[in-house]
Amino acid sequence: ARHLALIPAAGVGARMGGQIPKQYMMLAGQPMLQHALQTFATHARIAHTFVVVSAEDGWIDTLMTPALQARVSILRVGGPTRQDSVFNGLNAMRAEAGDADWVLVHDAARPGLDAALIDRLLDALEGDEVGGLLALPVVDTLKRSDAQCPARSLETVPRAGLWAAQTPQMFPYALLQRALHQAQQQGRLGEITDDASAIEMLGLRPRLVEGSPRNLKVTLAQDAALAEFFLKGPHA
Ligand code: C5P
Repeated sequence: ARHLALIPAAGVGARMGGQIPKQYMMLAGQPMLQHALQTFATHARIAHTFVVVSAEDGWIDTLMTPALQARVSILRVGGPTRQDSVFNGLNAMRAEAGDADWVLVHDAARPGLDAALIDRLLDALEGDEVGGLLALPVVDTLKRSDAQCPARSLETVPRAGLWAAQTPQMFPYALLQRALHQAQQQGRLGEITDDASAIEMLGLRPRLVEGSPRNLKVTLAQDAALAEFFLKGPHA
């Protein structure tokens, strides 16, 4: 089975507060999305990369260097939420994916992914029947509030066994397609924020593979500085 990458990049990045969508903001010398595209496109174990953008996206073509053009297909099928974009992307790449091919879904907003982390995920899931994701054990002490009193802690949530999910999240094409289809049928596509959730809804247990702090998600403006720190230096 081959390994295919699918990058949802159809968000507007409202929380960044910028003029252009965050995946096109400059980060360490190039648009944020280009980091992930290059990491996948130059990885020997990734057969092909698909990127999902919105129908009216006017930036993606400017990123397509000749080297990227040969290894990346643009799917203009972005939807209202990340999961819609992933589901639409899976359906749009149907003709080029076998049921048993692995799909690595990776957020454009995680520019710090590197080849070694991809290798770690691929190696850990070799021969696995379900698939899995990069994730980090939670280190913070966690507090729960409630709707009645959102600014006061109600209780402390034990962090044992809790992980913060990262991407890539890697599953067999047919399994992920079925999982997202079922979530959509049940009207639950909107409540999930990653791909592993849909697999869990089928009663399956995705493998947790240790990720890295350098693979952080750039959500707020201040995250960009930290992402640049990792991209510019030889940091673990
Ligand atoms: O906004 P957030 O950082 O959670 O988005 C995660 C990823 O999903 C980003 O790469 C973003 O571009 C993508 N996305 C998408 N379609 C949407 C919303 C987000 O492809 N409607």
